[in-house]
Amino acid sequence: MARLVLFKGKGPRLVKLSDGSHIMVCTCGLSETFPFCSGKHILIQDEGDDEVYAYNNKRQRLGKIKSIVLEGGEEIDPEMLHTPEWAEEA
Ligand code: FES
Repeated sequence: MARLVLFKGKGPRLVKLSDGSHIMVCTCGLSETFPFCSGKHILIQDEGDDEVYAYNNKRQRLGKIKSIVLEGGEEIDPEMLHTPEWAEEA
């Protein structure tokens, strides 16, 4: 079982903890230490604003996604995918 989720952030989100410390949470989806930022967001800095890209598990960009075809043939815009609120554009 797997799922597609859209990450729109371009850099980490600073989250302050109750003890006064803070963590950097990944919003790009490419971190090696997810949910914490590992600096891999450097790989997405040249992405176009209105484009959706696919990456493989080696964090290599495969290309732009123009549409997704669901079982049954329905074609959807990748922008319709779920985006976690904390992973909206940071
Ligand atoms: S925000 Fe994803 S690796 Fe930094």
